[in-house]
Amino acid sequence: MKRKVTKAVFPVAGLGTRFLPATKSIPKEIMTLVDRPLIQYAIDEARAAGIEEFVFVTSRGKSALEDYFDDAPELEAALREKNKTDLLAVLAGTYMESGAIAYVRQNRAQGLGHAVWCARQLVGNEPFAVILTDDVIAADKPCLQQMMEAYEETGGNVVAAMEVPPAKASSYGVLDIAEDMGSLVRVRGMVEKPKAGEAPSNLAVIGRYILSPNVMTHLNARKVGAGGEIQLTDAIAQEIVQGNPVYGFRFRGQRFDCGSKAGFLQATVAFGLAREDLGEEFGQYLRETVALRAAAQ
Ligand code: UTP
Repeated sequence: MKRKVTKAVFPVAGLGTRFLPATKSIPKEIMTLVDRPLIQYAIDEARAAGIEEFVFVTSRGKSALEDYFDDAPELEAALREKNKTDLLAVLAGTYMESGAIAYVRQNRAQGLGHAVWCARQLVGNEPFAVILTDDVIAADKPCLQQMMEAYEETGGNVVAAMEVPPAKASSYGVLDIAEDMGSLVRVRGMVEKPKAGEAPSNLAVIGRYILSPNVMTHLNARKVGAGGEIQLTDAIAQEIVQGNPVYGFRFRGQRFDCGSKAGFLQATVAFGLAREDLGEEFGQYLRETVALRAAAQ
């Protein structure tokens, strides 16, 4: 019988150099789309998918991230005094039950695979999810929940996948497709950051994974891959070598690469426009700004 997936690993130990100087003192995951930090989107998505245990792989300088989930009694008291029930509800969404959240340290940023491996003792011998907070996905049904439903049918390993333009493939892990079944593809190989013209397809892996505990075993080898880093893609590809199934899942939704400045700005626009309290005014501002720029050119 397939085991229910109740644990998720959030690797947040990267240096975030693309957002310097901001990331000199604030973790990237605390940066906000409108008014919610990236980490909140990831946690909400995990909860919607039935995750009950949250494992953060952190590093030096990430204490603001750890504090984010604590109760805030003084703030709460001040809001209650002013009868701000709507804000109290917002605050409640940030709280984590004691013991539901755990932090492990990655001593040195040696790659995503290494970061996931750092969570091995907390994950144990169970299937687990991995969420990269940089990838924010706007969807009617949260992406990880869609994947859990697919996993119920397939078992094995399921990775979120998305078509990318050939010129962009070298920035991703790319799937070598054995069989295309529509929303699911069966994978016969995976290549991390393929050289130009060498990508096996244009289907790229995005930051959501449901993985068998075997992947942790493969990571034990701590094999260095593309870019001199220990790659999660290589450990998942090892599953295929051992005859265990790996599926790519074409999720329904729009993914924003919030690890890049352009992606972060695009997500800010999309989430700003989608907000009931802001969308109209913000949309008006954007239309006027674009029209003014076009007229000036
Ligand atoms: P990125 O490749 O985006 O690296 O990592 P980064 O350090 O966050 O950002 P840049 O490239 O310097 O701007 C993808 C995800 O994997 C985590 C990151 O925190 C991010 O969520 N990661 C990466 C780790 O936790 N440890 C690592 O050694 C590498």
